[in-house]
Amino acid sequence: MEISANTQAIAYLISAILFILALKGLTHPASARRGNFLGMAGMAIAIVATLLGNEVHSYGFIVVGVLVGAVIGTVVAARVQMTAMPQLVAALHSFVGMAAVLVAIGTFLNHDAAGSLDPVMMGELSAGIIIGAITFSGSVVAFAKLQGLVSGAPVKFKGQHALNAAIALATVALGVHFAMTESMTSLVLITLLAFILGFTLIIPIGGADMPVIISMLNSYSGWAAAATGFTLGNLLLIIVGALVGFSGAILSYIMCRAMNRSIINVVFGGFGSESEGAPSAAGVAAEKGVKSASVEDAIYWMEDANKVIIVPGYGMAVAQAQHALKELMELLEEKEVAVKFAIHPVAGRMPGHMNVLLAEADIPYDHVMEMDEINPEFPTADVTLVVGANDVVNPAARTDSSSPIYGMPILDAAKARQVYFLKRSMNPGYSGVDNLLFYQDNTSLIFGDAKDTIEGMVVALKGGGH
Ligand code: TAP
Repeated sequence: MEISANTQAIAYLISAILFILALKGLTHPASARRGNFLGMAGMAIAIVATLLGNEVHSYGFIVVGVLVGAVIGTVVAARVQMTAMPQLVAALHSFVGMAAVLVAIGTFLNHDAAGSLDPVMMGELSAGIIIGAITFSGSVVAFAKLQGLVSGAPVKFKGQHALNAAIALATVALGVHFAMTESMTSLVLITLLAFILGFTLIIPIGGADMPVIISMLNSYSGWAAAATGFTLGNLLLIIVGALVGFSGAILSYIMCRAMNRSIINVVFGGFGSESEGAPSAAGVAAEKGVKSASVEDAIYWMEDANKVIIVPGYGMAVAQAQHALKELMELLEEKEVAVKFAIHPVAGRMPGHMNVLLAEADIPYDHVMEMDEINPEFPTADVTLVVGANDVVNPAARTDSSSPIYGMPILDAAKARQVYFLKRSMNPGYSGVDNLLFYQDNTSLIFGDAKDTIEGMVVALKGGGH
């Protein structure tokens, strides 16, 4: 069965509308599931309409490719830990980049035999190869850093920015040369240089900035897909590429704003390295020691509280403590304690990480508040319960100008009457920076796995408390 170009265009239009509705749905946890289904429906229609189009001459390779890809994709997606999601996303972006490079080169080699290509098409091929290759190698480096295959620390050396600028200029110049002359040597050189550029652009970026970089690479992968769409003359691919390109760019901007950094500063800053020089405020505070507390101490304060604000972080995801937290919330609410959850935009390891886990545990959305909404409430809270969060409540971001996280907006956890931190050790969070809040008079640490500690609290509360 083959469908006409018009039918295909209508199917593509429906897909494009479904993708836009999917993005709209993903803007709120309550509608995110529906958004995902709409996106899947859009993609199913797009795939069927493409397969039935007259461009497809044989199905052999496609069927084998889809089967192999589907098996690998299903196994990987089923196995991946929630905490390893960012590196999976990075790996997937690298595929998009490589696909853009291969489609562009394939198109050039195919057409070459049949005669010259028009200059616009040659320009598109150049752009596709450059963006695709940068996306590929940049994503591979991001994957390797996040997976711990190489150190997450920024790799910096003298003259790095000049070198990157020189490679970028040479790549663009050769890209123009290739578009004008169809030179095979230029094709090989731009491909190699763009691969190198993706690598050299990402190695100086520190671990703490990786989420922004992943989102930027997501945006690049969108542009790479759009370039492929131009090459193949596929309108839907251009639309989808532009949607991904813009949404990735907007997300990068939102994340930068959440960390009070500019994108230029992220790309060239090398954040994530320990700062050197004068002893930091954290170093001084560390000498004061910390107080540790028991589950019973915390329960004593919480069951008589009017308001408890829970700040979940990466450690909640590691411990999978969200279901126990839901139970704790319900027990406290039975005792007329108002319980709210405070979400920092970069808590955890990916955008929306905490929202997804809390939604999984069926914690009502009206209990889950964004940073700007909840910050004014901390001074009226009796207890802040910090569950595996660290960087996102570190006052050093406000007070210690020598700290690498200086300038990042934080949750005002410190302003509650009592602060309890659930963590396993004195280890710092993702940025490697000591937390000044540990040393505040009203702060106590409860050491242990967050899930075990919360379950202990649940048992203590059920047992009648004190
Ligand atoms: P972090 O600052 O990374 O702190 C995590 C805390 O969880 C640590 O104090 C750790 O201490 C504790 N922890 C780990 N496993 C635990 C367990 N099983 N039980 C109890 N505690 C446990 O987390 P955060 O406050 O959520 O901040 C996020 C950080 O990650 C920011 O620096 C952010 O920039 C960065 N980042 C964010 C993203 C996105 S987009 N969300 C992506 C990548 C990176 P112990 O080891 O002592 O237990």
